[in-house]
Amino acid sequence: MKKINIAIDGPSGAGKSSISKAVAEELGFIHVDTGAMYRAIGLYALQNDCTAPEKITEKIHEIIIELKFINGMQRVLLCGEDVTDYIRSPEVSMMASNVSAVPAVRAYLLDLQKKIALENNIIMDGRDIGSVVLPNADLKIFLTASPEERASRRYLELNEKPDCPSYEEILKDIRQRDKNDMNREIAPLCQAEDAILIDSSNMGFHEVVEHIQALIQEKLN
Ligand code: DC
Repeated sequence: MKKINIAIDGPSGAGKSSISKAVAEELGFIHVDTGAMYRAIGLYALQNDCTAPEKITEKIHEIIIELKFINGMQRVLLCGEDVTDYIRSPEVSMMASNVSAVPAVRAYLLDLQKKIALENNIIMDGRDIGSVVLPNADLKIFLTASPEERASRRYLELNEKPDCPSYEEILKDIRQRDKNDMNREIAPLCQAEDAILIDSSNMGFHEVVEHIQALIQEKLN
């Protein structure tokens, strides 16, 4: 039976993952966070001293990324080891951004993502899902918010932690990541022509979740 595929793209910090997870839970779909796959390859590059694009390209055949879903929660396996809890550091974030521009990395993950989408009802979030990975998705959403709003949400999240960066540092980092993601040569971050734009700058979390749920119901009925 044909599976339902929903694509959610947008810049860093727009809330794609938490919103996709909430919507997927409600629908009983799998939520696939493709950023975590790039992060796992970033971790591999750091651990195996192959951070240069040509080195990671050489090693790509040794890298095995698998996703497991436990009670609907995604776990990422890197060469058989669950690395889900080790891929959120600033070093891995930066390396994920670097490896995501390498053609061999994108080609490997593209195949994997397409295969997962063929076999499951999914909400897949990333940067190029509607434009490249799932051009025939049942519904495409481009979820964004202003850089200032994304930075201030991130600042509030990190505020309690020791060594929290300043709001200005976070905003600078967000602008840099937007620039990297939008300007890379292959599969840059962009809104697919047939994607619905949601600017969540002035919307609450639940409001966005409900809005997306309503769009999905419309499509499914
Ligand atoms: O969504 P995230 O911050 O976890 O993504 C980590 C990095 O991976 C980010 O710098 C952009 C990249 N990425 C990508 O190029 N394509 C995707 N589909 C998902 C993430």
